[in-house]
Amino acid sequence: MTSTLIDGKSFSSGVRGRVASGVAGLAARGIVPGLAVVLVGEDPASEVYVRNKGIQTREAGMASWEHKLPAETGQAELLALVGKLNADPAVHGILVQLPLPAHMDAEAVINAIDPAKDVDGFHILNVGLLGTGQKSMVPCTPLGCLLMLRDRLGDLSGLNAVVVGRSNIVGKPMAQLLLGESCTVTIAHSRTKNLAEVCRSADILVAAVGRPRMIPGDWVKPGATVIDVGINRIEEDGRTRLVGDVDFDSAARVAGAITPVPGGVGPMTIACLLANTLTACCRANGLPDPELVG
Ligand code: GUN
Repeated sequence: MTSTLIDGKSFSSGVRGRVASGVAGLAARGIVPGLAVVLVGEDPASEVYVRNKGIQTREAGMASWEHKLPAETGQAELLALVGKLNADPAVHGILVQLPLPAHMDAEAVINAIDPAKDVDGFHILNVGLLGTGQKSMVPCTPLGCLLMLRDRLGDLSGLNAVVVGRSNIVGKPMAQLLLGESCTVTIAHSRTKNLAEVCRSADILVAAVGRPRMIPGDWVKPGATVIDVGINRIEEDGRTRLVGDVDFDSAARVAGAITPVPGGVGPMTIACLLANTLTACCRANGLPDPELVG
C-alpha cells in the first residue's frame, strides 16, 4: 500500500486564508484582532518561532506585539506585563513562549493569563473546560491535528485512536479532543507495555513523544491514518535533518494516510494560533466563532 500524504502546508494555507477573510470581515466593523507574544530570554529556537508568529499574524491582517524580556527578568515583572496585556482591550490573544527560564514558575504565569485571551489553551480553566466537553480555547497543535483528521476521515466516531505521548501541550489535549469526537482513545507513553501492539490497534495513530523515528512501519495498522507531531533535529549523512517520531519511509508503505515532517503538523500550529486569536476576538465582541475549514 502507498499512503496518501496529508499536506499540512497547503491545508494550513487554507486555514490562514479563512482567518484572513474573518479578519477582513471584522475590519468592516472597525475591529482588529491582536496577538501579543512574550519571549523571556534568548533561546534561538524560540526566537525563530516568535518571529514566524509575528510575520504570519501581520500577514493575516491582525495586530501583533512582541515583548522580549531578558533571561534574568523576575517573575513579578513578567506577571506585571501579563496583567497589563490582560487589561488591554486591543489585545485579544496572549502567548507566553515556553520554555520559560528555570527560575520562573511557568504554571503560575500561564494561569495569570486571562483565560479568554489564552490562545494556547494552557490555562487550567481551559484545560478543565476541554476535559468536560465545554467551549474553551483549544491548544493549537492538537487542534491542527484534529482539523486534518476530520478533513481526511470525516466522522471519527467509533475509531480506535492511539496517542503516543502524554504531555500537557499535545498528548493529553489531543486525547480529549478525540474523545470528544467519540473515538475509543488510548494514551500510550514510555511505560506502556506492548507499545507495538497497542499502536497496531490504531485506526488513528498520533505520535507526540519527541524521539526520532521511534515508531516503525510494522507498528502501523494497514490503512491507518498517522499524524506525526514530532519535530526532531538529527545529524545524518553529514547534514542536519528534521525527522518525525514516526519512521516515515516504512510507515508510508503501510498507512492509509500520513503527515510528513516537515510540512505536516508544523505549519498547522501557527495557523491554529491565528485561528484562536480570531476566535478570542469574536468572543470578546459577542460574535459567533469563525469557521476554520470549508
Ligand atoms: N513552545 C513550543 N511550543 C509552544 C506552544 O505551542 N506554545 C507556547 N506558548 N510555547 C511553546
